[in-house]
Amino acid sequence: MTTPGGGLDGFDQRSGLDQRSGLDQRGRADQRVVQVRGEVLSVKRVGAHHLVTLVAPGVAERFRPGGFVTLGLGGPLSGRALPRAFALHRARPTGSYGGTAEIVLTVTEEATRWLAAAPAGTPLDVVGPLGRPFALPKEPVTCVLVGEGADAAPLFALAERLRERGCLVHMVLGADTEAALFGVLEARRATRSVTVATRDGSVGSRGEVAAVLPDLLARTQADVVYAAGSPAVLHGAAVAAEAHGAWSQTLLAPRDVPMPCGTGLCFGCTVPLVGEDGVSRQVRACTEGPVLRGDRVQWERL
Ligand code: FES
Repeated sequence: MTTPGGGLDGFDQRSGLDQRSGLDQRGRADQRVVQVRGEVLSVKRVGAHHLVTLVAPGVAERFRPGGFVTLGLGGPLSGRALPRAFALHRARPTGSYGGTAEIVLTVTEEATRWLAAAPAGTPLDVVGPLGRPFALPKEPVTCVLVGEGADAAPLFALAERLRERGCLVHMVLGADTEAALFGVLEARRATRSVTVATRDGSVGSRGEVAAVLPDLLARTQADVVYAAGSPAVLHGAAVAAEAHGAWSQTLLAPRDVPMPCGTGLCFGCTVPLVGEDGVSRQVRACTEGPVLRGDRVQWERL
């Protein structure tokens, strides 16, 4: 396996998740969590998804790509619903609202339906940013970012950070259908190349998004693969990266690993993995993830 980025920083000395990855975790040590009474600023339809902008002062200043927030959803759900975790798409610390955070959601059930329909000014409790963000290479390397549907949303802020470090960024976006893709136009503007795959073949290559990775990794000689999507996509990305000799950073979606407390207290988000010492253990996705080294996760047990 290659070691991008010169020096080798520890990702998690306790679990041995990423001790020799050559990826830089600066930014998480000083990441403090805030709890604010926020509100919905706007909700915009984006294809099959909704882009929700929240007023959340203090969250944006601490935002790192890969982090998430929990939202105490209000209205009729507030009395019986646990806080819900959402991956952060972007966050802006300045502006007339004193800081905003964006999430992208797909309506799948009552809570997401409520949030997608929430009018501007709807209050809700915001806690974040939570979790360990993506590790970044210390030096300019070639990176492939692979995302599925709305889960790809956190990859766009990541792409900006990687470009700031001089990295070459290629992106792969996939979904069931063309309408379920997220961010293709922005990806074309912001990355060196974009590859699209849909399961129904409506646009791009037909099939799983991870299936295009072996060719792309060989062509680009990528050093790091960053993935955001379902466990199947993350597993596929991790396998392709390992076969190519690249590192993988995989972002677990709160949909697949619910993270209701977000702070390590409830143990409702455990993920099986193998540490550097070869020992299997359960880690909490909310505190030791949601970004984990793909080659360490025991995907078949997830
Ligand atoms: S969400 Fe409660 S411990 Fe992770």
